Amino acid sequence: MNTFHYHQGELYCEDLSLATIARYYATPCYVYSEAAFRERYHSFSMALGEGTLVCYAVKANGNLAVLRVFVDMGAGFDIVSGGEMERVLRAGGAPEKIIFSGVGKSADEIRAALSVGIACLNVESAAELWRIADIAADMRLRAPVALRVNPDVDPDTHAYIATGLKESKFGIPMDAARALYLEAAKHPALELKGIACHIGSQLLNLAPLAEAAMRVRALYEDLSAQGIILEHLDLGGGVGIRYHEENPPSPADYAEVLDQALSGLPVKRAVELGRALVGNAGVLLTRVEYLKDNGSKQFCVVDAAMNDLLRPALYGAWHDILPLREDAGPSREPKQVMDVVGPVCESGDFLAKNRAISAASGDILAVMGAGAYGFAMSSNYNSRPRPPEVLVHGHQHRLIRRRENRDDLMGLELP
Ligand code: LLP
Repeated sequence: MNTFHYHQGELYCEDLSLATIARYYATPCYVYSEAAFRERYHSFSMALGEGTLVCYAVKANGNLAVLRVFVDMGAGFDIVSGGEMERVLRAGGAPEKIIFSGVGKSADEIRAALSVGIACLNVESAAELWRIADIAADMRLRAPVALRVNPDVDPDTHAYIATGLKESKFGIPMDAARALYLEAAKHPALELKGIACHIGSQLLNLAPLAEAAMRVRALYEDLSAQGIILEHLDLGGGVGIRYHEENPPSPADYAEVLDQALSGLPVKRAVELGRALVGNAGVLLTRVEYLKDNGSKQFCVVDAAMNDLLRPALYGAWHDILPLREDAGPSREPKQVMDVVGPVCESGDFLAKNRAISAASGDILAVMGAGAYGFAMSSNYNSRPRPPEVLVHGHQHRLIRRRENRDDLMGLELP
């Protein structure tokens, strides 16, 4: 499905021209397509089938209106903080469909998760497991847990978002996990639910996922042989998307890899997908302020910056940048190779490097692939109010987070 497309030379989101949105809400501005969220979720849930709970990884884009779309479709949720849990609950999500991952859960977060009755805590260390056991015992209940194992496979992605290697801070090494399951099985306040595993993000190659799933299977079988019968296997998230020229796995390819690795096991499955569900469902609209020629280098200075979209600065990530009016016709400026940069006072503040684009002051550009880890990673650096978020559905648009103002910037301070 092509949610963002040119129609009579104008870039559209579903049935609305993005120029209309930019006029209405000004720039910078995040715009999401509800149809794209729905289409991506349905593709994965159909491909993975009924035995798999597709959890949406809230960290990718936690706006309440976005979460409500996923609640409406029956998704589960993968959370990594008490704040994310509160978001899911306020969006109407059921606690029984929430899985809590993350290496540093605080005692308060564990207590809150147990008291609302979430489906599972994915445990990342022995120390965390015993903390959970103590809290559950104190609350006179049994904590549903899975150990998040570290399968030590190379996910073949950017180092900052690789999580399944021995040297990463995530998960419990396989051998240690095996021993820990045996110990945990004896604890009356722990209910062993499953095994969890997540090896990294923006995965384009399915082989590491297959390898990790095989290792999870081996552990499951080993534990079964020792009398520890688990209910579910959570294979994490990480399926990549196309930002530029990548060839990401299709939902069907992904489902087939999991099926092959886990066939015949009498367990439910869960996945924790973020980017693959929302990444290409969002854009960041930005206006060109100035074109600047430094002699050896041309710059296109826009009104969005690294505080609005951090991915290029942090990971050197590529985001396509498209003009709202298609590159055609004699009236357009010739393309020039430029760095697209924001107003923030850092040389790392760029949205694109050496990009051939045609732009003039006042033009509006769409930074594509900004639906995941875009607004979610934004900040107020340089005292910049964060942009609004707008949800489009068909011909309709709706403000789902207003633009921050100066009071929002300073309101919490105590001068
Ligand atoms: N489950 C766990 C335990 C995770 O740590 C993550 C992502 C996910 C699921 C969802 O992964 P996804 O399906 O979205 O790849 N800020 C980075 C991505 C960080 C991902 C962190 N963990 C970026 O902008 O590329």
